[in-house]
Amino acid sequence: MTLSSSTQAVPEVSLVPRHIAIIMDGNGRWATKRFMPRVAGHVKGVEAVRGIVEACAMQGVEYVTFFAFSSENWRRPEEEVSLLMRLFVTALEREVSKMHANGIRLKIVGDLSRFDDKLRNMIIAAERKTAGNTRLTVTVCANYGGRWDIMQGVRKMIAANPGATDFSEEQLASFLSLAYAPEPDLFIRTGGEERISNFLLWQLAYTELYFTDTYWPDFDANALGLAIASYQKRERRFGRTSEQLTEQTSVVKC
Ligand code: IPE
Ligand code: IPE
Ligand code: MG
Repeated sequence: MTLSSSTQAVPEVSLVPRHIAIIMDGNGRWATKRFMPRVAGHVKGVEAVRGIVEACAMQGVEYVTFFAFSSENWRRPEEEVSLLMRLFVTALEREVSKMHANGIRLKIVGDLSRFDDKLRNMIIAAERKTAGNTRLTVTVCANYGGRWDIMQGVRKMIAANPGATDFSEEQLASFLSLAYAPEPDLFIRTGGEERISNFLLWQLAYTELYFTDTYWPDFDANALGLAIASYQKRERRFGRTSEQLTEQTSVVKC
């Protein structure tokens, strides 16, 4: 299947979402509720990622994208930020070989220039090691921001086309960080907040949105199943009328 832009052509819709994008929120509150330090929530959060990666692979999802650290999360207390960085390093050390053995391709996207050399080299090595895997692509968005993504894409697009003044959506899309993935079919945000928080601003144009109060550390395969079931009840019209969709289905059935 080729990648298409949901605003230029109506994409094919499958029963199981091809691409799920997730804002993993509520780690801090999960811990606070248990009188534990916020970091305990982040540690549990990493375990939840493992479970959801496995569940996505089992369900036949092709791409799952996690928002791990936003370009605005640097505003947090220094101690929490450095702890999150250390957790990221540990998770890479522990998980990459397992992911590779399970046929998973790992991508890390975001402005990596703010990370130290050790972390950056680990990221490059992890991506290189898993580059040939095809079962499931797991993307971790780290120091990522939707506006940053669009700006870096525009800069690259202009640099690649010196003197050009007219560009297409497809051209810009090809310079965005997730150019290798179809636009997300399903967006999930845990933790009760109903906002995008500068996540995939361009790519979510026609994504089905799902919000749950469940805190991220508690989000398991069963919770994912509920999100997918909700997605399966949606009518994805992409600007068309409901009648048009019914007509189309009856033509296919004849
Ligand atoms: C999400 O959980 C994880 C990151 C943003 C890194 P939070 O840390 O935002 O948890 P809450 O929202 O404070 O509960
Ligand atoms: C969004 O969560 C970013 C990540 C999950 C990495 P936040 O908890 O930082 O979002 P806001 O600030 O409440 O919108
Ligand atoms: Mg939060």
